[in-house]
Amino acid sequence: MSTVSDLADLTSSHPMMDAVVDEVDRRRIRVGDQWLADYASCNYLGLDWDREVIEAVPEYLDRWGTHPSWSRLLGSPVLYEQLETRLVDLLGCEDVLLLPTITHIHMSVIPLLAGSGVIFLDQRAHKTIFDGCSVAKGHGAEVVRFRHNDLEHLEELLRAHPATPRVIATDGINSMTGNAPDVGALARLAREYDALLYIDDAHGFGVIGQRDPDELCDYGVSGNGLIQHAAETYDNVVFVAGMSKAYSSILAFLAVPSRLKQVLKVAAPPYLFSGPSPVASLATALVGLEVNASRGDGYRFEIHRKTHRVLDRLEKLGIHTPNTSGFPIIEVPLASGEDIDEVGRYLFEQGIYVTLAAYPLVPRDEVGFRIQITAANDDEQIDRLCEVLDDMAQKFSFQPRTHLGPVTQSEQVRGFQ
Ligand SMILES: Cc1ncc(COP(=O)(O)O)c(C=O)c1O
Repeated sequence: MSTVSDLADLTSSHPMMDAVVDEVDRRRIRVGDQWLADYASCNYLGLDWDREVIEAVPEYLDRWGTHPSWSRLLGSPVLYEQLETRLVDLLGCEDVLLLPTITHIHMSVIPLLAGSGVIFLDQRAHKTIFDGCSVAKGHGAEVVRFRHNDLEHLEELLRAHPATPRVIATDGINSMTGNAPDVGALARLAREYDALLYIDDAHGFGVIGQRDPDELCDYGVSGNGLIQHAAETYDNVVFVAGMSKAYSSILAFLAVPSRLKQVLKVAAPPYLFSGPSPVASLATALVGLEVNASRGDGYRFEIHRKTHRVLDRLEKLGIHTPNTSGFPIIEVPLASGEDIDEVGRYLFEQGIYVTLAAYPLVPRDEVGFRIQITAANDDEQIDRLCEVLDDMAQKFSFQPRTHLGPVTQSEQVRGFQ
């Protein structure tokens, strides 16, 4: 409990934590009497307010009811097969298995892949990956941690721990820094040391994709995730992502070889025992994939353009952000983490809703706030955000642009972003 005491204090007193949202209008939300522009949404493509998606849902409910109820092993509406086939085409992988959430996947699949072998866990991996590794530990795996994105350290550990099976577990696009690991180098290490690279691209899938001469921006095209973006193959790679962010649907998947998919169908507990995604989510995921094919690159261009407006403003103001990728997650650490309460209240009063990045969501020297940009945030909102950042640069102390930052340096205990 002492680890989460800062978070608990904020949660009990701050209007931007554990808020009750009374009304939503695209990326405007009302909390009590206050309307705010929403920069805490992960609905990157804006499909939560897409008319084509919304209007398609009732027909699915009429045909399937609201909820299939069976665990997937008992029976799956054919919608799952349709989704898996479409995802295989989009990702360019051998096969796909859908489960309700990424959290279910980490908890059940990491222990199966690791057995009584070794997991090499990135020190800043998402809390849900960490928890999946803890379950694996309970089943006999050893968990060793490498410094965030430090490939030399990872290689040292791979040499020092020869037991098999071996799993390297890490994030794709990091949910706080917005940056990607060197996935090519990670995949090479995995192949060289006979390991599996298990990578969670919750925030990359739908936002970044394969590079293409006709791309509208450097996010690439199709939004098919980090492996494609890095022009990597799926050899020795288990790619995990979800639809709960860019696709606004409760659904998640693994890209795996068909043989492994068959094993997971009988060995991964959520396939056997967990309730399935609601029909509305299967519908919004299916229609969302259609919208992605027809309009997704336009939305990604919008995300890119608006993200760069904010990044440019921070640069002009000399305010440090760990974001070096240009992807739409912009963390703004404060000079002193103690200011988080006041800074958050100021943002709230100015009508800006963000994620407060308290410890242990981030390491102590990175406490601040996180701005996420979606296609549904309009230019007026971005104008207002930039004005508020201008004012804040006068009122509060931020880490200066030259600050090397703890992102690659910190030895601190992992946050659980
Ligand atoms: C990197 C990462 N992985 C997993 C999750 C959880 O995903 P899900 O809601 O599908 O369990 C999140 C959600 O915030 C995330 O950021």
